Amino acid sequence: MSIQQKKLTIGLFGFGVVGTGLYKVLQQTPSLNAEIKKVCIKHPDKKRAAPETLFTIDPELLLSDENINVTVELIDDADAAYYIVSRALASGKAVVSANKKMIAEHLPELLALQKQYNVPFLYESACCASIPVIRNLEEYYDNDLLQGINGIVNGSTNYILTRVFQDKLSFEDALLQAQLEGFAESNPKLDVEGIDAVNKLSILLTHAYGIVSHPQEIVHSGIQNLQVHDAVFAKEKGFEIKLVAQAKKLEDGDVAAFVLPQFVDATNQLYNVRNEYNGVVIESGLADKQFFYGKGAGSFPTASAVLSDLSALRYDYKYEYKKLNNKTAGSITNDFFLRVYVSFEGLFQVPHERFERIEEWSSSEKRCHVIGIIRFSKLRDSNWWKRKGTSLIVWPDAFVNNIEDRVQEEESALAFV
Ligand code: HSE
Repeated sequence: MSIQQKKLTIGLFGFGVVGTGLYKVLQQTPSLNAEIKKVCIKHPDKKRAAPETLFTIDPELLLSDENINVTVELIDDADAAYYIVSRALASGKAVVSANKKMIAEHLPELLALQKQYNVPFLYESACCASIPVIRNLEEYYDNDLLQGINGIVNGSTNYILTRVFQDKLSFEDALLQAQLEGFAESNPKLDVEGIDAVNKLSILLTHAYGIVSHPQEIVHSGIQNLQVHDAVFAKEKGFEIKLVAQAKKLEDGDVAAFVLPQFVDATNQLYNVRNEYNGVVIESGLADKQFFYGKGAGSFPTASAVLSDLSALRYDYKYEYKKLNNKTAGSITNDFFLRVYVSFEGLFQVPHERFERIEEWSSSEKRCHVIGIIRFSKLRDSNWWKRKGTSLIVWPDAFVNNIEDRVQEEESALAFV
């Protein structure tokens, strides 16, 4: 019997913020004909708002139960999650997961498992929680038309930036609040240092361009080094600072991809994305820009995406990884130029030689900043810009074409003065 005629009998791993949300939401959606048979948890002594008989600490009980036809994996530990997901796929169970770290780090193996066992593995909740961005990239956008993705994909850092820069909360208090609200990872460094965002970008790149790239290979940084000086500068210019995951198809067809703080001006749809909300602007050749907006973290928003995956199992939906399998896959390039702002503790720390061109600089007793053009491959191969006390923020519309031509043109123009 195919899964669409059957009842979905779920073995759930994890009963944290999202697991609890799913449990509650499923009770309100009888039409889905889905039932949680057992929940595997780590700490049996915790008080939980569900009957005790539902819980076990033995994963085998769920994995070897032939009546369980769907495994929903919502745990924190990426290594344990990989074990559970691969075991479940190998035993022919459909799998729904929210574990972006596990998926991003094991994509090649997970692709092979799906092929080998021909079972659905869905993970819409892993990117931007309530925003259905994976399925849209997978189904709607043809590779050739997809020019770029610009997204705020981490709710916690966006929440912290809003609370610190708008409400003048301290960084520590804002982070604590994000943790209390259940937005942050249990290791909040993953949020703050841009790791969660780059995990999500790596998943999006697969569905957008057929690129399978380990997140560590993608240039990324978080909000850990941002300074009050940067916020004051942004305000003067009418910008907001956001942590943006960006992918852009360049003229030669290769894809530029990174997660970095960016200055965003009021014409950008991401400007008004605040608190734990996420936003994704998709640029396509024919339709210009589309903007997806919604809650990117939290119990019910994430559970709603898990629910939508469960519902998709009803019609035997699987990711086809069209761009990867149709041999239209793109590849990542680091060969381009970006306009960036970098602020430093003192003027003597400015590494002039790291810039192709410095266009503006300003210095005060305590802090100085420069705006200039960098060769992205040099940024990728160095760490100076990640040091404590240095903050690098991407300028709006940062891509610079043909810098060599332009430098030469300027030099020849000067020769006639
Ligand atoms: N920690 C993540 C975030 C949770 O803040 O976006 C949702 O993936």
